[in-house]
Amino acid sequence: MKKAKFKKKILCIGAGYVGAPSMVMIACKCPDYKVTVVDINPQRIAAWNSDQLPVYEPGLEKIVKKTRGRNLFFSTDIENQIAVNDIIFVCVNTPTKTFGAGAGQAADLQYWEKTARQILEYSQSSKIVIEKSTLPIKTALAMERILTSGKGDITFDVLSNPEFMAEGTAMNDLENPDRVLIGSRETKSGLTAREELVEIYSRWVPAEKIITSNIWSAELSKLVANAFLAQRVSSINSISALCEKADADISEVARAVGTDSRIGSKFLRAGIGFGGSCFKKDILNLVYLCRFYGLPEVADYWESVVKINEYQQDRFIANVLQSMFNTLAGKKICVLGFAFKADTADTRESPAINITRKLLAEHAEMVISDPKALDNAAMDLDDAEGQISYIEDPYRAAVGCHALVIMTDWDLYRKLDYGKIYRSMVKPAFIFDGRNIIEHRKCFEIGFNVFPIGKPPLTRL
Ligand code: UDX
Repeated sequence: MKKAKFKKKILCIGAGYVGAPSMVMIACKCPDYKVTVVDINPQRIAAWNSDQLPVYEPGLEKIVKKTRGRNLFFSTDIENQIAVNDIIFVCVNTPTKTFGAGAGQAADLQYWEKTARQILEYSQSSKIVIEKSTLPIKTALAMERILTSGKGDITFDVLSNPEFMAEGTAMNDLENPDRVLIGSRETKSGLTAREELVEIYSRWVPAEKIITSNIWSAELSKLVANAFLAQRVSSINSISALCEKADADISEVARAVGTDSRIGSKFLRAGIGFGGSCFKKDILNLVYLCRFYGLPEVADYWESVVKINEYQQDRFIANVLQSMFNTLAGKKICVLGFAFKADTADTRESPAINITRKLLAEHAEMVISDPKALDNAAMDLDDAEGQISYIEDPYRAAVGCHALVIMTDWDLYRKLDYGKIYRSMVKPAFIFDGRNIIEHRKCFEIGFNVFPIGKPPLTRL
């Protein structure tokens, strides 16, 4: 059989939420590049090679089917792949440290450092190494130090190319990004390496959207972008508390404020707080960096974004308890949605985890429903004490419950027949809409006591 000829070979180390979808898009847009994704986890690679992909993203499966075996390959053979590829993306996970200095805030770089050492060990020729995982600033410098600690004439150019895509819209974000950011050393070889990467993105991203910068600015920009987005969510959530006291309506306030073009309308939806793998982690990282560099006021400022997020969840739980006559013991509560947002099965840092655990602590009996995230939910609550059941169908889940708590903004929950659900529940029946997605007045007229976020409750009690 004739071997396919590829113009360039690209490797990605880490087949997670960031690495794999990014490479799927590159493979799709650059059919003349061979793209290989490796991971230490054989089950994960097997899943990428199967019909049951390990990541759910609208539109992902279609492109995987088109490119897999053509110019996209998934493998566990990290050593060989490092040797044969010229351009290496590093997309390994960098969770928050759980031990030692900086525990709970700093990034745990053990996987990342291990990868840098593997690259050094198995490289037989010069390479471009691109950090795509969100990392503390100056990580590229540390990576360079490791990579230059070895063999004589092999050189490594380290680039920072942070990924801004959001889960649930990853494929669209990758195809039509607001910008692509590429940071490099401003040396001759650094600039040449940067050009190689610009060439890849230029296949589908307009030139004016490809921003180049120095490497530290690129690393920091990613943390700051996430911190600013999370700050908007915390800002609107803080005002939702005031709205509940002052009889104002948070949706009206957000609309009025967001129509100012200097402010903008996105990320002003009040709710139970942000979740996901990035926001909290990145802000705490920023906080850690600020403290490290002796900037306690700046650290405190950003830390308050995380504190408001916790406050918003505590407020929600207190509201459920108080409204249901200060006792939840033996009452059945149906959680609608466990994913940290709609269109994903991801539950990392989902507010639903904390809220469910706190309701269990009040001895409520919990029924968890979600169209995609039940497996993850069961893992998250594995060690939780109390009665929990998992039922995907929301109608069945609600039967015999005293309250519904809406945790995820799945479109499905906007369209449910709440009349039918009401009839199957224990009365008085409650809805706590943690995402402000249902028609509150209509549900009230059906008979529910309705508690939105940042709006007056609709209740007969
Ligand atoms: C985020 C960034 O958007 C992305 O650029 C980065 O690369 C990774 O982190 P993601 O975590 O996938 O992406 O989700 P995002 O859509 O940003 O939402 C984060 C959280 O904020 C979710 O829990 C969401 O429900 C919540 N949110 C968002 C609100 O509560 N209100 C809003 O108005 C917007």
